[in-house]
Formats: sequence, structure tokens, C-alpha cells
Amino acid sequence: MAKQPDKLFSCLKCDSQFPKWAGQCASCGAWGTIKESSVAGEETLRPTNRTRAKAGGITSFSSLTEHVRNARTPTSLPYWDSLLSGGFVDGAVTLLGGEPGIGKSTVLAQLGLMMASQGKTVLYVTGEESPAQVALRLKRLTKDIPSSFNFLDSTNADVIAATIRETTPALTIVDSVQTIRVPEVVGEPGNPTQIKAGAAVISEAAKQSRAAVVLVGQVTKDGELAGPRLLEHLVDTVLMMEGDRYQSLRVIRVLKHRFGSTEEVAMLAMTERGLEEVKDPSALLLSNRPAHAPGSVLTCLMEGSRPVLIEIQALVTPAAYGSPSRRATGVDTNRLSLILAVLGRRAAIGFGDQDVFVNVVGGMSATDPSIDFAIALALVSAKLDKPFSSDALAIGELGLTGELRPAQNTSARVKEAHRLGLTRVYLAHSEKLPKLTQPSLKAYTSIREAVKEIFV
Ligand code: TYD
Ligand code: MG
Repeated sequence: MAKQPDKLFSCLKCDSQFPKWAGQCASCGAWGTIKESSVAGEETLRPTNRTRAKAGGITSFSSLTEHVRNARTPTSLPYWDSLLSGGFVDGAVTLLGGEPGIGKSTVLAQLGLMMASQGKTVLYVTGEESPAQVALRLKRLTKDIPSSFNFLDSTNADVIAATIRETTPALTIVDSVQTIRVPEVVGEPGNPTQIKAGAAVISEAAKQSRAAVVLVGQVTKDGELAGPRLLEHLVDTVLMMEGDRYQSLRVIRVLKHRFGSTEEVAMLAMTERGLEEVKDPSALLLSNRPAHAPGSVLTCLMEGSRPVLIEIQALVTPAAYGSPSRRATGVDTNRLSLILAVLGRRAAIGFGDQDVFVNVVGGMSATDPSIDFAIALALVSAKLDKPFSSDALAIGELGLTGELRPAQNTSARVKEAHRLGLTRVYLAHSEKLPKLTQPSLKAYTSIREAVKEIFV
């Protein structure tokens, strides 16, 4: 049998483990993050075992019907109920991730206030801010704070778990999981081992006392920071809050949900009095659109099952020096490079000596490939300095040979365009085009053909 190493080194950033120390982590590339973690100490790193042992071994049997009864607690906030497919499941742990300043604490404070105003016990664990700071935010959101809204000013996972077991709140908000520490686990709060151990201690308390818990997880701009990613498999539901801090629109997406659909999306706007649901995001996103501006093209995204109209803007300028830059906000830079390459090779429109900027207006981010066509048209429109029709929309995916491919849910997107008063939709040729009189549809098989005809 191979001899077990008596020492183990792990990276504080990504939690990868190595038999030997190194200055740079071979897995995530970070410098100076490898620290020794003894193998003998492994047991203490597993809070699940630790608490089990304390509880006295095997837990008692229970019948299935016992678990099925009163499974969900509705939140009384319609967008939360649809995000969670009906409400919080008893004992479920939800992770809400997002960049700092995006509105996680605000949206959860509002949720807590709503549930507390219905007489349900809410526990807000303040790790990042002081209770006074949180109270100040609550004052901004409501006149009186209901008496069933409680604070716990602690970052000790054992204290939080014990409070959950004792008081079984309907909702516990832990803000944030990066500040939680488990006393017997080595390392500073915020390192991967602490985050995982803290989340495990708290979720065990949640499961045992059937109390719903929401953990807040900070994510940096590039989706980094160990926390939320490490926790994805540990929690039941993962929600991600996105948007641009400097714009009002926020989107909460469901990335994982053990008890329901991951199709749901909430669209919210940050106002003076917190976040409010946006009933008509397309209208909001189109409200300040410049008319007849070169480089602006409308397209339609699917946000879950909902079509949302967005504006793509492109700017093309001669490159000042060195290699030309390609910047994108809201769309993937790799996708942009691909579209530029296809335009160059398949439509003979080169951008080699030009700086290119592409932006999705309103702080939305789009991974849906069906916006390729709109990005391509915005680029060509910007380069030629010819405006694209402001009451038209473009949808379709771009292939490497320059072919246009139909988007999924074409009819839903076309209908949304019509609802907002657009008169024409440019799209990929397909046998299943919806039969309509309004808006008029113009179908193309290749980007070359489309560009030629649209920008004559
Ligand atoms: P916050 O919820 O603290 O973000 P996070 O917890 O994700 O770091 O809120 C971020 C911003 O929201 C902050 O800059 C202030 C602003 N805000 C409003 O615009 N309106 C409000 O009613 C509140 C409470 C905050
Ligand atoms: Mg916060």
C-alpha cells in the first residue's frame, strides 16, 4: 500500500491540494497562496463529522410523509416565489451570489422585512456590517421594523448554528458567508476551508431544524473568489444577482435549484426605496434609446422563459498604436473576436486596424448566441457610419462559415418586438418562420447576404 503523505499543501485561493510546497499554485496560478495543511488535521476540517459525533451517532428514522408535509414557505413577494418555484423549502440552503454593491443585502433585507411583517421569525446575521448599519438600511426600506425581525451580530458558525437550532426562524440570512469562521478550523475567514466549513455547520443546523437559510456570497468582477463556486455543490439553490452597479437594472438568475425550475429570472430596478420588480424590462431598456445612431441595433434575449429586448451598441475607431483593442461589456470578448473574424473572412469587412468596443445597454449581460447577428450588424453599422433601422430587430446565431442560424423561441421574440411597436425583424432563414403580417420578417442565409442588403 502506498504510504500516506504526512503533510499536505493547499492553495488558499482555489483549495487545490499538492504533496509539495510551491511558490505558485499550479491550478489557479496565484502566487504565495500555498500553505501547509496537515493530513492529521483533516478530521477537524469536516464539521459534519464533528457535529454528528457530538449529537451522539445515528439520527432517528423518520417517515417520508413527515418530510413532505408543509414543505414550502411562501415569501409573499411574488418575484421571490417564482424564482424559488413557490417559496423556501424547509431546511433548504440558498446561496445568493453577486458582486459587491450590486444589492444583495438590500434585496434580502426587503425579503426579510416582508416575511417578518407576516409574523414569521426572521434572523439576520450581520457579519459584514454592524447591526446599526443594517438597521439604517432597513429604516430606508420601511417605517417600522417588525418585532419578529431579529439580528445576530456574530461571525462564529457554531453560535449561528446554535441560534438557528434554538429559535428555528422561518428565514435566516447570513450576510456574508465570507465573514463566517469555524473556531477549530485553521485560517482566516474568507479562505476556502473556512467558507466550506462555515457553510457546512450552518446548513446542518438548517436541515436539522428545517429552517430556510440564505447565504450571501461575494463574487468579484471576473466571477472569481473561491466562496460561491466552492459552495455550489453544498447548497440546494444557487441564485446569482447581476447588473451594472451604475445602472438601475438588476437580474437574479437561478443557476441551480434542487426543488424546482432553473428557468426563472427576476428583473428588478434599484430605486430610492430598495429594489422593485420591473414588470416590463423591454420597455425600460428601450426608453432612452438614441434614434438613428450608427452602431445601435436592437435584439431580443430570452431571460428564462421571458423575451427581453435589448440594445447593442458598437463603436469602431482607428487604432491609435500597437495592436487594436477589443472591449466588450455584457458580451463575451471571445464571442466578439469570433464575430469580427467571421465578418472579416466571410463578409469582407475587416477590423484589423481598428479599435472595437461593444456594449449591451442597461448593464445586462448576454450569453445567448442568438444575439450574434445583432452584434455583427452593430459593428458593420458603426464601421460604415450608417444607422441601422431604429424600429427593427435582429436575431440569429452566426456560424464560422458566415451562415446565419435560427434562434430558439423565434416566435416569442418576434411577438415581443411587435408588442413594443417594432415593424421589422431581420433573422436567419428557416423552414419554420412564423406566418405574420406584422412585424415584417426578412430572412437571410448568410451574414454576407444580410450586410449587403441591409447597408446598401
Ligand atoms: P447593497 O445591498 O449593500 O449591496 P451588496 O450587499 O450586494 O454589496 O446595496 C448596494 C447599493 O444600493 C448601495 O450603493 C446603495 C444602493 N441602495 C439604493 O440605491 N437604494 C436603497 O434603497 C438601498 C437600501 C441601497
Ligand atoms: Mg452587502
